[in-house]
Amino acid sequence: MTRQKIVAGNWKMNGSLESISALVDGLLKADQSNSEVVIAPSFPYLSLVSLSTADSSIALAAQNVSNQEKGAFTGEVSVSMLKDFSVKYVLVGHSERRSLYAETDEFIASKVKVLLEAGVTPILCIGETLEQREANQTLVVCEKQLQAVLDLVGVEAFAKMVIAYEPVWAIGTGLSASAEQAQEVHQAIRAFLAKSSETVAKKVQILYGGSVKASTSAELFAMPDVDGALVGGASLDANEFIAIVKAAG
Ligand code: G3P
Repeated sequence: MTRQKIVAGNWKMNGSLESISALVDGLLKADQSNSEVVIAPSFPYLSLVSLSTADSSIALAAQNVSNQEKGAFTGEVSVSMLKDFSVKYVLVGHSERRSLYAETDEFIASKVKVLLEAGVTPILCIGETLEQREANQTLVVCEKQLQAVLDLVGVEAFAKMVIAYEPVWAIGTGLSASAEQAQEVHQAIRAFLAKSSETVAKKVQILYGGSVKASTSAELFAMPDVDGALVGGASLDANEFIAIVKAAG
């Protein structure tokens, strides 16, 4: 089964009105790709980026969402607010949300449910720490993170989701997992889902994230179970991000 590649840029808490305008302008100049190109600005810039990319094929993602519909939740942003700005994807379960903001597997699953009910595609981030990898717990950790979502929304929902495998030890470190390491875990993720549904397992797109850069992208994207990338730092440089998109074909 051929799965469309996705190259998503997680800008994290970076950028200014000036730098983001320049970054979007740079990306719009190269807006031709067979892959789905996604950018995830911080909330204050969603409106600007949504308007700037409205006539392009670039899709918009948010970096977070509330699991509440509306009301007295100071500082939160609802999925309906995101839909007002044509947000197509939302990152959930990013390791920084898990480690810095104590988001549990169950809390993350509740965000996935809210997104699916609203017709917005979750990009579910999973991955192990270096300690967990060194203890040979990579698959145990990833399967536990997936199981919490499976328990809440069921396997069929994964046909409407994207998974991003992001080994925590590769995020922001410059030390990417090798293409073979990524393939091994992606294949295991797909095999885990196949226990519940072969069809869904074949369909779900699984991205790799963690120090992705243009020079190593082609090898990564050549792996059969790697369906794209979730890019952090390199997505803040238009030329580097465009080079990664080009490597995806
Ligand atoms: O969500 C993607 C991000 O966690 C990866 O960051 O800077 O290692 O590409 P980076």
